Amino acid sequence: MEKYLINPNQKLSKINRDIYGCFSEHLGRCIYEGTYVGEDSPIPNVNGMRTDVVTALKDMGLPVLRWPGGCFADYYHWKDGIGKKENRKKMINTYWGGVVEDNSFGTHEFFELCKQIGCEAYVAGNLGSGTVQEMSEWVEYMTCDGLSPMAELRKENGQEKPWKVKYFGVGNENWGCGGFMRAEYYADLYKRYATYVRTYDPNNKPLKIACGASHEKYYWTEELMKEAGTLMDGLSYHYYTYLVDYDHKGVAKDFSDEEYYATMKNAYKIDELIQKHSEIMDKYDSQKRVAMIVDEWGSWYTAEEGTNSAFLYQQNTVRDALIAGLTLNVFNKHSDRVRMANLAQTVNVLQSVALTDGEEMVLTPTYYVFKMYKDHHDNTLLGSCITTKNIYEDGNLPQLIESASMKEDGTIVSTIVNTSMSENAEVHCQIEDFKVKEITAEIVTGDAHDYNDFDKKDVVKTCGFENFKKTEDGFTATLPPCSVVKFLIK
Ligand code: AHR
Repeated sequence: MEKYLINPNQKLSKINRDIYGCFSEHLGRCIYEGTYVGEDSPIPNVNGMRTDVVTALKDMGLPVLRWPGGCFADYYHWKDGIGKKENRKKMINTYWGGVVEDNSFGTHEFFELCKQIGCEAYVAGNLGSGTVQEMSEWVEYMTCDGLSPMAELRKENGQEKPWKVKYFGVGNENWGCGGFMRAEYYADLYKRYATYVRTYDPNNKPLKIACGASHEKYYWTEELMKEAGTLMDGLSYHYYTYLVDYDHKGVAKDFSDEEYYATMKNAYKIDELIQKHSEIMDKYDSQKRVAMIVDEWGSWYTAEEGTNSAFLYQQNTVRDALIAGLTLNVFNKHSDRVRMANLAQTVNVLQSVALTDGEEMVLTPTYYVFKMYKDHHDNTLLGSCITTKNIYEDGNLPQLIESASMKEDGTIVSTIVNTSMSENAEVHCQIEDFKVKEITAEIVTGDAHDYNDFDKKDVVKTCGFENFKKTEDGFTATLPPCSVVKFLIK
């Protein structure tokens, strides 16, 4: 029996709901087909946005959406995507498959999408191939309400009032696809570009996000914090889960048990990496003013056979649901520093929450975990710990990974992931100074290889969970293998 302690007297950081965000890039079928089908499409849509996908994202409680990239961001010229659609420039998306990008989804369409979903906007600017003026004017176009050339242009294009831009990214992966820069060089450029990301309205002041490291690039974090830490609101961080590494990604569906555990171990590594990058940030920012923005994370496997490999389409199994569950628990635990994150990506690309095929849509196991974790949004993280064993010989993978938070009304939300493929976990939860009146629970589980597809949409979904007993100060429960379980405790 594992011992699980939750301490409601230990109120830690606020879990910013923006930790539960997604990322959508002009890549493969994420935007075109996946989200935007155009006003004239036979697929049900409102102003070109697919109704099924928008409804699903709304129900999931998507708080923030990042756009337009990714690598595409440092290649995107925003003026190509405004004005009459028939006059918009067509270009080749050289980074993702050499397909024609007709720019029919641009700034106005992105904000229309955010409005329909009811989420905040995170816009990623072009530092790699764009000018300081171009970036500056984009921010002016989006946020200026006064008399200004860009505000006039926006009005001519049909948008009278500025939009709210909560986050603005100053480049993306500038150590890689965004220009292969040295940290020192990027830090200087960041300062230059960010200077001209102006504020036109103190109530609509985009938080400036500098391009941060990925994986073990500690030097990048150190340099950026040292050279530009005081001039940024957030520093991004990217972490993808591969079987081994970028060159050995593994497969999405037909993985062996060994591959399952190796992948899960790599997913859990994000905990150690966030810890280490945070320690570096602490050296320069002990008050934690600068947020860590994990604006790309998720599983990345070899693209599904028979699809365009540059489109990064992959299926999504119960293993991915567990990766989502454990990663979101890790983010909750680090919510003093991690204050926004974006799953890569939203639809049809990498670890998506939805897949589409023509007018059909399938929700993935990952979707159900995000929806289930909605109960953590904006809660207070509580002190909690669980006894558990390491189940991977060649590294660190605890069987149980949990987090607990408290809602404003005093309800405790606990989410636990059982990463074992074969073993139940017996858990005894005790809550300090708390008298339990009522508990309800939900679960996402199945065989690790289970997934939803267009001909079997409901193989994996959220179900009620009853295999627990309420006690005076907590509960005892038997969590099945490969499960993500949520308890709501009143
Ligand atoms: O999400 C796919 C790509 O991964 C993004 O474009 C890039 O930022 C990262 O390398």
